[in-house]
Amino acid sequence: MPETVSFAHQRHGSSIGQPITRRDGPDKVTGAARYTADVRPEGLLHAVMAVSTIAKGRVAHLDVAAAEGHPGVVAVMTPKNAPTLAKSPDEKDNPFAFRLDLLQGDHVRYAGQPIAVVIAETLEAATEGAALLAPRYVSETPVIALGEGDLLTPPAVGAGSPTSEGTGDLEDGLAVADSRLTATYETAAQYHNALEPHSSVAEWDGDRLTLYTPSQALWIAKARLAGFFGIPPENIRVICHYLGGGFGSKGFLSPPQILGVMASKLVGRPVKLVTRREQMFGPVGHRAPTRQTLTLGATRDGALTALGHHTLTQTSSYDDFYEACGLIARHLYASPAISTTHEGTRADIGTPIFMRAPGEAPGSVAVESALDELALELDLDPLELRLKNYAEVEPITGRPFSSKALRECYAQGAERFGWAKRPKAPRQLRDADGLLIGWGMGTATYPAGMMQGEARATIHADGTALIETSAQDMGQGSWTVLAQIGADGLGLPAERVTLRIGDTDLPNGGLAGGSTGTATGGMAVHNAASSAIAGLAGLATNDPASPLYGAGNAGVTARDGRLVRNDDPTRSESFGEILARAGRSSIEAKGQGAGEPASRKAYAMHAHGAVYAEVKVDPDLGQIRVTRLVGAFAAGRVINPRLVRSQYYGGMIWGVSLALHEHAVHDLRSGRIMNANLAEYHVPVNADIPSVEAILVEEHDPHVNPLGIKGVGEIGITGTAGAIANAVWHATGVRVREIPITLDKLLG
Ligand code: MOS
Repeated sequence: MPETVSFAHQRHGSSIGQPITRRDGPDKVTGAARYTADVRPEGLLHAVMAVSTIAKGRVAHLDVAAAEGHPGVVAVMTPKNAPTLAKSPDEKDNPFAFRLDLLQGDHVRYAGQPIAVVIAETLEAATEGAALLAPRYVSETPVIALGEGDLLTPPAVGAGSPTSEGTGDLEDGLAVADSRLTATYETAAQYHNALEPHSSVAEWDGDRLTLYTPSQALWIAKARLAGFFGIPPENIRVICHYLGGGFGSKGFLSPPQILGVMASKLVGRPVKLVTRREQMFGPVGHRAPTRQTLTLGATRDGALTALGHHTLTQTSSYDDFYEACGLIARHLYASPAISTTHEGTRADIGTPIFMRAPGEAPGSVAVESALDELALELDLDPLELRLKNYAEVEPITGRPFSSKALRECYAQGAERFGWAKRPKAPRQLRDADGLLIGWGMGTATYPAGMMQGEARATIHADGTALIETSAQDMGQGSWTVLAQIGADGLGLPAERVTLRIGDTDLPNGGLAGGSTGTATGGMAVHNAASSAIAGLAGLATNDPASPLYGAGNAGVTARDGRLVRNDDPTRSESFGEILARAGRSSIEAKGQGAGEPASRKAYAMHAHGAVYAEVKVDPDLGQIRVTRLVGAFAAGRVINPRLVRSQYYGGMIWGVSLALHEHAVHDLRSGRIMNANLAEYHVPVNADIPSVEAILVEEHDPHVNPLGIKGVGEIGITGTAGAIANAVWHATGVRVREIPITLDKLLG
């Protein structure tokens, strides 16, 4: 695939749209990039968590003396001596805050909950000390299974979305249907397992704290820490230059990260705490299991008359987070009657949290599977059925879409994949080795959001510039794309722009989450750059000695380090000349990424895509291999096609993982996860991933934000899992409604 794209709205000579390689790449491949666990301040101690092996009850006894007596152990932090927090960790001081277990009592609310922290001179001593604690518990019978216990109606789902929403009357819609389908799909619990586990290196200096920790939202972390420790936020510096994967679990501080800070406070020395891989299964959030019932009605020619999507999911005993599977059915397909509802049950598990495409990922696998089942009922091609129900406006609200190139996604993906050659019936294709071949497709979608953010741009007299914002790069490419956006705003080549990110000493870059990071940080950077240029233009156009004097209403344009008159391009002046004449070495300005644009009320804003999958299934053994994936996505302006493709690949690979691999299995009696390791909790490896192609479909959106950015981080996983489930059916004729699809389910 060509790396470059040329879209009509791209300016000539602009950095935006160029496939620049990752600016952080050399640091990462040479090992120069320092992640939290690489930070080693003078006098550093190591902390190791002990976590509960029961799911419900309380800790009756810990052999603290044995751990303290171990050579090298400096202290053992338990609820008896843990620093008292100024604010209860059960108190939510921001809309995204979660209740946290921070050794403020002896209760146990889930297996894997931290119950003590051992601090020692070496990691080995801390690890051995933690093993000597020999906890004794007063244990109660836990509730673990999805649907066990009282059903409740969530106060809200996902990040504050309404629990139910719809239009028309589902029963009326079903009554007029020629064809009806009700099917229930299940998705498994998944646990975030970024390469970099949650960690912290904390150092106190009196009541000032410096904290290295991987976070998708440094300023939100700072504010919550200020609340816990009763100190002003300006006393806290949170630093995270490199983040080894977050996927939602590092959006908001988790217990292990804060326990490290408490441990450092307790011993008065810098402390490092790194979560062990098996400890990732519990205290840092997860994607809850779901049971989704789709109720569809359609006319003989395939027009939906009813679309019902009910989700049952699970939250913890002590907090509320509900996987918002129903969101997609609110805008993806046109139907006179739509009903989307959610219910939950409480279990003795850690609180679920955002995981890449929260809601949409498990939601879309159910919706796309059901559409495929309906297509079979109606004897329609699955793509034809989707086109038949294409939503020209957002079906529930009637709002127009700010932009929607989904038709082009369907068409370009189908063309590239060769969809037209697909036989309608299952079990029609085989390869030379006799493996069954199946083709399936799914629609991808994710909302285009934006948050508050701030950036600063400084232009120096030597023709270089500095862009600063606390925004995060967790692999998605902020180190590169924010520099590209800054360079364009400043009229400079990207090589002359230095970017600083990942530090709360920099302007608040907002949150890298919800696929909003590039829009938020990008708009802040763009506005800061524009303001700096406006300041520079002010210096020149008001100075009679400048060739730009009196450029007036026509104004000036920044290009290649010069300001050029719009009314006479032969008259220009370099940034350096302007600053020198004004007697300044630099000029700086701040800019905001302004959160929700007013146009959001008038328009529905979503990115879209279409994913086509080929699988091969061994007819005797049931072994499934994905052999081809083609995704075509339209998500507004493409800042960097190389990195956007990389995001789509990552999302699509996670789609493979959702469809075929990931499944955290609880022991229902103990409440412990039986496969809390990367040997038994399966994620795809290279051998599982086929040729993956991502087509960038041109889409110009004048409403989402002035840069036209929709966000690409999460959409790839949606659509993909459904496409694979549908391809497995097409290969075998067996419809598996329990995700992940594994060979036992195919053969059973
Ligand atoms: Mo994403 S799940 O909002 O980091």
